[in-house]
Amino acid sequence: MTKPLHTELPLNPHVAGLPPYNAGMNIAAARRQSGRQDIAALASNENPDGCSPRVTAALANLEPSRYSDPACTALRAVLSQKLGVSPDRIVAGNGSEEMIAAICRAVLRPGAFVATVCPGFGLHEIEALANGASVEKVGIRPDLDFDIPAIIAMLERGPAIFFLSSPSNPVGPALDHEGLTRILAAVRHETLLVLDEAYFEFTDEDTPDGLAALSATNLSWVVLRTFSKAYGLAGLRVGYAVTSDVRLARAVSAAKTPFNVNAAAQVAAVAALADEAWMRSSVARLKHERERVADAVAAMGLSTARSQTNFLFIDVGRESPIAFDHFLSKGIIVKPWKEEGYDTFIRVTIGTPLENDRFLDALRSLARP
Ligand SMILES: Cc1ncc(COP(=O)(O)O)c(C=O)c1O
Repeated sequence: MTKPLHTELPLNPHVAGLPPYNAGMNIAAARRQSGRQDIAALASNENPDGCSPRVTAALANLEPSRYSDPACTALRAVLSQKLGVSPDRIVAGNGSEEMIAAICRAVLRPGAFVATVCPGFGLHEIEALANGASVEKVGIRPDLDFDIPAIIAMLERGPAIFFLSSPSNPVGPALDHEGLTRILAAVRHETLLVLDEAYFEFTDEDTPDGLAALSATNLSWVVLRTFSKAYGLAGLRVGYAVTSDVRLARAVSAAKTPFNVNAAAQVAAVAALADEAWMRSSVARLKHERERVADAVAAMGLSTARSQTNFLFIDVGRESPIAFDHFLSKGIIVKPWKEEGYDTFIRVTIGTPLENDRFLDALRSLARP
């Protein structure tokens, strides 16, 4: 009898055919490929300042032999206090990316229609496709800001979910009060609006707080936030979803794995919230650096959006894989953008002042080889 080929195993076509997630190169791979040790990791929007010393102290008291709390009770209680939202409307995740997956699993039926923005955060599309949805995308304006009329036109078609990151990853701008108000007025009752605020802490003072704005509506919504960026806990994997109502929170919670947030991540997130002063001072430094780097990029005549995040999206005028190789040869990891229409763009994280100077030198030599 001939042995059946592995290729004959039926797979879920929605999952097997997914486009890959464009993850930033890790430091070990960058060392191998560049032959350099002095890597500046500027592809994944991590915090170059590390994290609060309270986090490292709290991690010393772990009991690795015990399962973590599946309900993340302590973390949700602290978040509830901080945000003024009852804990039963908060779901913690293994990074906010897990919440994107859980939301899609909780809401979408095969054939559903999901909408988002291009260029955008890859998982907003990938997790929808994985659940059998079709995805349509709204473009941005030539000046790299949100195209509010186009978003409104898409919302009027009543997608099952509309994913929107504000501040935008990868572009950088955040919605202002007027833009957000116009968008909220266009959301229909059959649509779940997912406002992904992964970079919320880096916004300007007059930028609206999405959670406050959405709380004042009677729509179905989720606000996503994370400890990976401003709080510097990317490697521990912890983020959360705040939902419009308890029924939605229960469905999202049912769609996650039971022990999704490990014990170290739960302890670290609680400790990080006990030291907001550390986060605020790191964010202030990074915002200052962001403006310095953005000014230097503009002085080179390159186009970049006004960013309210810890990264810049820059049209380097060369194909992004060529730019990526150029930066890697100098020990710098950036993210080459791959979406159609943006394949001469890179996204670069704001690092330490030294890393940023290295990046600017490398950018100058790319612009004028
Ligand atoms: C817009 C946006 N959403 C969600 C995430 C996921 O973050 P995490 O899973 O680390 O919380 C990221 C990470 O880069 C992001 O940029």
